Amino acid sequence: MFNTSYIEISKKAYKSNIRYLKKIIGKDVVFSSVIKGNAYGHGIDNIIPMAEESGIRHFSVFSAKEALDAHEVISPKSSIMIMGFIDDDEMEWAIEHGIEFFVFDMCRLHNAVETAKKIKKKAIIHIEVETGFNRTGFDYENLSNLIDFLNQEKEDFVFKGLCTHYAGAESLSNYLRIKNQISLYRKFNRYFLRNGLQPELRHTACSAAALTYPNTIMDMVRFGIAQYGFWPSPETHMFRFRKDSKERNLLKRMLEWKSRVMVVKHVEAGNFIGYGSSYLANKKMKIAIIPVGYANGFSRALSNTGRVLIRGRRVPVVGTVTMNTMTVNVTDIPGVERGDEVVIIGKQKRLSISISSFCEMSEQLNYQLLTRLPANIPRQIVP
Ligand SMILES: Cc1ncc(COP(=O)(O)O)c(C=O)c1O
Repeated sequence: MFNTSYIEISKKAYKSNIRYLKKIIGKDVVFSSVIKGNAYGHGIDNIIPMAEESGIRHFSVFSAKEALDAHEVISPKSSIMIMGFIDDDEMEWAIEHGIEFFVFDMCRLHNAVETAKKIKKKAIIHIEVETGFNRTGFDYENLSNLIDFLNQEKEDFVFKGLCTHYAGAESLSNYLRIKNQISLYRKFNRYFLRNGLQPELRHTACSAAALTYPNTIMDMVRFGIAQYGFWPSPETHMFRFRKDSKERNLLKRMLEWKSRVMVVKHVEAGNFIGYGSSYLANKKMKIAIIPVGYANGFSRALSNTGRVLIRGRRVPVVGTVTMNTMTVNVTDIPGVERGDEVVIIGKQKRLSISISSFCEMSEQLNYQLLTRLPANIPRQIVP
């Protein structure tokens, strides 16, 4: 397989997630599949074809580089939207290829309009407004410059969207902040309309917002984490669980990460295992070496605390996780041998290790863990 571990991605689970999310937003709302961060670790080239099979025609990325990667895979009917970075010299490529993009300051707007004039093709822009996240977006106080410029240069762009991003819709503790953001967004929208500027799409919601604040759904939703089968937070899960009590499967996990036992050996009592002295064998032990370490996405924080599945049993990591290996204790499992399947995330017989338990063990957000899975681990789609 020319790699030390591999990831399986379930097409059935993905399609079920899309069906569930589409039911929530309704058929008239555009579903934008957020595929930044290598499609949250699932691989852009794996997700785009499955998304298109599920009827998705809009994809959101962070940078022009990600747009370029997506552009190589998408069908001509689909659109790509850049929500973040575009270098000045990437603008021409973006406009030339009909790539949509966020505009959040005058500098980008000037660049977009000048480039559009130069190549005689309209820029397709989404104006991002600052409603309280305090990252990117035009401030309400200084709108008149923007409005004047937009009205002056109407011939050179398509006003595709008016958008903003919420500052933590996944947590109840941000409730007031989100409510204020929604009100301010509406105020922006009214201001644009009063000044003769009507966006084709109003869009503000990410997964958590769409799942818990129905009035954020508007004309398009930018779904990231939820399409991959993860809840943005336990609170979001609880909220939907109560609301959709009749649904059998709300969101389904679609990713499993597996490897194989490389070596099995015995260690006599009184010996340390691995680098340093963090694990002392206090009896004769049987250990298995797995060819996955922190260079492969298995955090060093899991030294002496992580778990994997072998022969349907949960086995603990002993000693420190090294760059390319981890060692697990298989003393009580008969018959473990070289080549046995090791499940790092996923199911084996009746046991499973979920991403969320893995994240808790390694103290990472699911977003972090997924996007840190190295791109060179082979991904296979399973039906
Ligand atoms: C602007 C924007 N929209 C949408 C998303 C998708 O968020 P989520 O993965 O929580 O659905 C992100 C992700 O960070 C984002 O930055």
